[in-house]
Amino acid sequence: MRAFVTRDLPAPALDRIRAVADVEVWPEPGPPPATALRERVRDADGLLCLLTDTIDEPLLACAPRLRVVSQMAVGIDNVDVAACARRGIVVGNTPGALTETTADLAFALLMAAARRLGEAERLLRAGGWGSWSPLFLAGLDIHHATLGIVGMGRIGFEMARRARGFDMRILYTSPRPCPEAERDLDARRVMLAELLRESDFVSLHCPLTPATRGLIGAGELAAMKPTAVLVNAARGAVVDQRALYEALRDRRIAAAGLDVYETEPLPLDDPLLSLENVVLAPHIGSASVATRTRMAMIAADNLVAGLRGEPLPYAVAAS
Ligand code: DGY
Repeated sequence: MRAFVTRDLPAPALDRIRAVADVEVWPEPGPPPATALRERVRDADGLLCLLTDTIDEPLLACAPRLRVVSQMAVGIDNVDVAACARRGIVVGNTPGALTETTADLAFALLMAAARRLGEAERLLRAGGWGSWSPLFLAGLDIHHATLGIVGMGRIGFEMARRARGFDMRILYTSPRPCPEAERDLDARRVMLAELLRESDFVSLHCPLTPATRGLIGAGELAAMKPTAVLVNAARGAVVDQRALYEALRDRRIAAAGLDVYETEPLPLDDPLLSLENVVLAPHIGSASVATRTRMAMIAADNLVAGLRGEPLPYAVAAS
């Protein structure tokens, strides 16, 4: 059997796949271009991919032997799961492994945006620290503020749990109620409009689907408090990025902390880069050594199971 892996992985994960298949690993640091990916999947039985690879119908049409797609991420918006299902290709992802690490990063963005840490560091390095003074770099309090969680899944829950440690009040919106969050974290499920109106911090934790694409646009940003902070460690396209830029520029909301963007990498001429009131990270939500290693091992396990025709430990159901 043959497997194609679209990026170099920790050695133990590759060893696990090599035990059952001939493995080709894309040798470059960036993702394989579409043409190279098409070429590589021609005789592959299994594909281990990242969120930077587009796995769509035209690609699958080039992969007559493919029986498993294993994505090293929890989000699978780059994979046409329905097209895979039509071709009998099973799809796996890595839920659970990155939950707490991603919530840590989302909370770090919340804190950095509230307390203006990016701006403070830039100013200090540029020699702009004159003296201690009453309102110098004064930001927003986090403790006892209201956090609105959009999407109370695993990561949203962990974000809320962190927030409770800061005595924050939790509102959430989610397709289904989360009794655990209501019981253990005193979270209250509300409609999005109320969440936007009431929250001091709004943190996005929903997957990117047709229903959530552009969920936070000009109208939603206008509904937020002028002192509010938006955090996005989910997917960039959940937010209308132009509308967010304008809201931040005009101080219609106070600040944002972002890990994800409509286009990644964020182009260097993106206007967000001109703003002081946004903290920008390069999609590193799950980027701890331990978590990325765990994700690679799970992705390898999914791939191996699919190659062997066994049920995947973490299979994605086609909706
Ligand atoms: C995921 O798993 O979807 C994350 O975005 C990777 O950090």
